[in-house]
Amino acid sequence: MGDAAYGDRAGAHPISRLERFGSVDSTQRVVRDWLAAGEPEVCVAVADRQTEGRGRLDRVWQDESGRSLLVSAGFRPAALSMASAWHLPAAAALAMLEAIRATLGPGASQVTLKWPNDIVAMDGGSVRKLAGVLAEGVPEGDRLSTAVVGIGLNVDWPAEGFPEDLAGTMSSLRELAGGRPVEREAVLGAWLAGLGSWYGSLSDGRFDTEAWAAAQVTTGCHVEVETATETVTGLATGVDEASGALVLRTVDGVDRAIPSGDVRRCRIEGQAGVL
Ligand code: BTN
Repeated sequence: MGDAAYGDRAGAHPISRLERFGSVDSTQRVVRDWLAAGEPEVCVAVADRQTEGRGRLDRVWQDESGRSLLVSAGFRPAALSMASAWHLPAAAALAMLEAIRATLGPGASQVTLKWPNDIVAMDGGSVRKLAGVLAEGVPEGDRLSTAVVGIGLNVDWPAEGFPEDLAGTMSSLRELAGGRPVEREAVLGAWLAGLGSWYGSLSDGRFDTEAWAAAQVTTGCHVEVETATETVTGLATGVDEASGALVLRTVDGVDRAIPSGDVRRCRIEGQAGVL
């Protein structure tokens, strides 16, 4: 089912298909299969719950049935080189940040991005995860023939239902709204509209790297980053606007660009907060 309302802004890329599911294994799998079967971009699957929800680095993504936004979007990003492929999940994260701000209004003042593609809420000195972005692509030469970008967002999930092991590091839009219910559909509609605009720009070779860099909570934080091979600590001084890498100044004063990894700790200067 196409839905013109989500993609009819000038310059925005339209949504070709939008399907809602009660329960699926993973919306990533659904959209990957659609693309493999020839579905045009941008095709979108949304689920109330997932039985095999996946996060980055092969982690399990937990949801609360009917209270999490679980959505994957499929692309054929012919205009993106491999070097700029990171723009796609970054644009999806920025579109979601805008959608959250539009939905919550002033309640979203503490919501921002955490490198590489988490969406977090600042809570005093600590950083609580609201959403994560997972990007998976099929390379073909110097391009991605297809890519699936999935977002899991804790929307209407009350704190008393948070899993015990995550309760100290997660939050939800409902909590940011002071316990008031928040509609998943409102966030989804705003995200899809924004995503169409961001993707339209990417297809024209434009990405607002400055907006992405400015939204990173990690900038100015003492961080501990786990990469595939090591754990690096240092002061995050920013992000490399060409590659999307996190730029760290280590204790010996050397600047290092970390292309991928997981920020385990993020301590803001002068505050005790730790992620
Ligand atoms: C992360 O923070 O590690 C990324 C989490 C991505 C979860 C979403 S939920 C919708 C889509 N389907 C999945 O199985 N994963 C993504």
